[in-house]
Amino acid sequence: PCTIRLQRQNREVVLAPGQSVLAALRAQGIDAPSSCEQGICGACETPVLEGEVEHRDSILSSAERTANASMMICCSLPRGPLLVLDL
Ligand code: FES
Repeated sequence: PCTIRLQRQNREVVLAPGQSVLAALRAQGIDAPSSCEQGICGACETPVLEGEVEHRDSILSSAERTANASMMICCSLPRGPLLVLDL
C-alpha cells in the first residue's frame, strides 16, 4: 500500500491495490480535475513533490518522466510507499 500525502490540504490518502490515484482521492471526496482518464489529455497533471512515479501516460516526454516533477494521476502510479503531491 502507498500513502499519498496532499501537501497543501494537509491530508493523507491510502491507495488501495489496483486503484488509481485519482480514484483514491475521489473516494475521500477530494475533487481533482480529469477528463479522458486514459493518460492522453493532460487534464489531471499534478505536481509531484516527493516519491518515484511509474509513468503510464502518453503525454510526458522521457525527459519529463526522468525529471519526475509531475504525473497524470488518472493512470500513473507511485513506485514507493509514499507519494507527496502539491495538492
Ligand atoms: Fe486525461 Fe488524466 S484525465 S490524462
